[in-house]
Amino acid sequence: MRRNMTVATILTNVFVSLIFVFSLGCTKKQQQSSETSKKSSQQNLETNDTILIGAVLSLTGPEATFGISTKNAIELSFEQKNKEGGVLGKKLKLITLDNQSKPEESAIAITKLITQDNVVAVLGEVASSRSIAMAPIAQSNKIPMLSTASTNPKVTELGDFIFRTSFIDPFQGPVLARFVFENLKMKKVAIFKDVKNDYSIGLSQFFKEKFVELGGQIISEQSYSAGDMDFKAQLTAIRSAKPEFVYLPGYYTDVGLILRQARELGIKVPFGGGDGWDSPKLFEIGGKATEGGYFSNHYSPEAEDPFVQSFVKEYEAKYGTVPDALAALGYDSGIIMIEALKNSKSLAGTDIRDALAKTSKIKGVTGIITFNSQRNPIKSAVIIKIEDGKQKYVTTIDPS
Ligand code: PHE
Repeated sequence: MRRNMTVATILTNVFVSLIFVFSLGCTKKQQQSSETSKKSSQQNLETNDTILIGAVLSLTGPEATFGISTKNAIELSFEQKNKEGGVLGKKLKLITLDNQSKPEESAIAITKLITQDNVVAVLGEVASSRSIAMAPIAQSNKIPMLSTASTNPKVTELGDFIFRTSFIDPFQGPVLARFVFENLKMKKVAIFKDVKNDYSIGLSQFFKEKFVELGGQIISEQSYSAGDMDFKAQLTAIRSAKPEFVYLPGYYTDVGLILRQARELGIKVPFGGGDGWDSPKLFEIGGKATEGGYFSNHYSPEAEDPFVQSFVKEYEAKYGTVPDALAALGYDSGIIMIEALKNSKSLAGTDIRDALAKTSKIKGVTGIITFNSQRNPIKSAVIIKIEDGKQKYVTTIDPS
């Protein structure tokens, strides 16, 4: 008994001292990190040899390829500029935080970048729902945010500090609607949307309005939630409606799974979607089931434009893969930000905001970029077809 108690006492003591040591460690770490962030802000404001730009991206989780491609390309654009001597004699430095493909984490990450790292501007996010979670924080702190790829109209409506590099979905939805109706000559379409995703909800709506206006019919509308694994019930309902085409404006991980299950259920008609299909992982997840699919996108690496080709070559040389549209938009976002910093009166958020608002005729990989008064560029879209496991360029559609 006595012995047992001694053991228990020793154990308790060890435990208590472990906690003590651990908490000491934490305090030290906290001190260190607040010192580091103090240092970085001083560096930013005083020594003036570095400009810190933040990025919030999905480096992990179901949309990891979106974030990774974007980060790679922004870094490429900064690196190229730094080699030329940087901006106004200062080197550009990107601090990227991972949001695990989640909106809540995006809000936490942008708060940290602004309040602790003292970045002068933020790049990101790709997914509209995540940009929507971040924008009010950028706006209330008066720090400009440039979404690289979010296409839902709401993103830039959240304030005058919020800009985007991509076109918007009231353009993107109709692009595919028109293509299905006029080029594929299909009149009966089913829609399968992700109700947890602002992008998917918006794009479905914009597609539908145009398709119906043209004289087409939406004969079935089904929904899922991002992360679901079994789509058979909704796909069975779609199969019984006998559509000629299924519009599926989701992100690649869900899209790949849905396409597989659709083929298993014997649905043979083509599926199509928006830019959210663009990932090398789509073929890995969906395999042969992706064949014959169509989607709207921001650029094609097949474009002959020498500016596009030199970007494709440099990106490939550095990262070993063909840049997708996320990379193209990330690169253009880097260029837009660099140009604004060059023209800004100071590194204050309001001055960078004013310089961004004047973005005009910047040559990018995804087109020539001029922001309108709503802080959106007006650009062309391309249509891509999946053939033999590869993306084939079909056509370019200009805004009317
Ligand atoms: N447009 C998508 C959104 O707003 C994001 C995206 C852009 C995905 C480009 C792939 C390619 O959520």
